[in-house]
Amino acid sequence: MDKHAKSLVIICGASSGVGRATAHRFAAAGYRIGLLARSEEGLTETQEELSQYGVPVMSISVDVADSQAVESAAIRLDNALGPLSIWINSAMVTVFSPIDKLSAEEILRVTEVTYLGTVHGTLAALQLMRQRGDGLIIQVGSALAYRAIPLQAAYCGAKFAVRGFTDSLRCELLYERSRIRVCMVQLPAINTPQFDWARNKLEKRPRPIPPIHDPDVAARAIFSVLQSPPRELWLGWASIKAIVGTSLMPGLLDRLMARNAYSGQLSAEVDSQRPDNLFEPQQGLHQIRGRFVGAIIGVVGDCVSAVLYCAFTFLNDRT
Ligand SMILES: NC(=O)c1ccc[n+]([C@@H]2O[C@H](COP(=O)([O-])OP(=O)(O)OC[C@H]3O[C@@H](n4cnc5c(N)ncnc54)[C@H](OP(=O)(O)O)[C@@H]3O)[C@@H](O)[C@H]2O)c1
Repeated sequence: MDKHAKSLVIICGASSGVGRATAHRFAAAGYRIGLLARSEEGLTETQEELSQYGVPVMSISVDVADSQAVESAAIRLDNALGPLSIWINSAMVTVFSPIDKLSAEEILRVTEVTYLGTVHGTLAALQLMRQRGDGLIIQVGSALAYRAIPLQAAYCGAKFAVRGFTDSLRCELLYERSRIRVCMVQLPAINTPQFDWARNKLEKRPRPIPPIHDPDVAARAIFSVLQSPPRELWLGWASIKAIVGTSLMPGLLDRLMARNAYSGQLSAEVDSQRPDNLFEPQQGLHQIRGRFVGAIIGVVGDCVSAVLYCAFTFLNDRT
């Protein structure tokens, strides 16, 4: 057990995918859980699933683009289940589209959820953590926070921005000699529902660029940073290749992405007109896993990932 055990962890974007898998990890370890997302239905289902662990769980429906709502929810959760010790920002939306088909409104919405939503969560967490001078903020990032790809410009821009904001915050916390820590976990492709409810302006159904990992691999990686939080954790060989590759040979990676990342993100299936989750949550689709179960790289790949993230946890600078 770590020093935070039995305390409150608040997870933004907890009603599906990585956030929901992470809630299971923390609940299983005895944490009190605060769940934030928009969908009442998705939150209720998640809360019901977590009842198996016998820990206190409370959920609040909130849009992370609304800073006041996030702050109020944080205070309510802290009063009910606190003290808050860990805050995890995992909420996101994206639009699959070439840039010339993106509207300004779509770019704004992706930015205010995926980037500003993380900022709002971080500010709410800091306000509570500063009162006690301790805590850990975990930003669920992506290899795309370093290596941008075509067809997801708004999302890549938001993830780069999260990394910039987080690096500034880390420097300030170090300057203050604060005991509050901030860690960004850069994920590879994960099998979550996002590819079935993200807005898509392309004809084919979107998919993550393989290899695709199970959400529990991401949840385990996020949980693993508690003991000794690194400044960043890069999960999986694909993330390491993308981050190191773009640092050393950005022009070559641009060309590789131009050649491979169009077909890599599009499945053979035609995408029908369907509702998306950009402005409103979808009903009936909230779950941990998406539709790529057969494509998951499996136990061997997960083990390789586990070894690699341990190695990079060790190699990364520690705050
Ligand atoms: N899946 C991947 O391949 C992958 C790869 C790298 C990094 N990541 C990162 O992993 C994290 C989770 O992604 P995921 O794949 O698990 O996505 P997901 O399954 O689509 O889950 C997104 C979560 O965010 C919530 N959300 C969306 N808009 C919101 C808003 N305006 N306010 C509050 N909550 C909102 C959703 O719930 P509601 O609909 O109920 O609001 C949901 O709980 C993200 O940070 C993403 O960047 C994912």
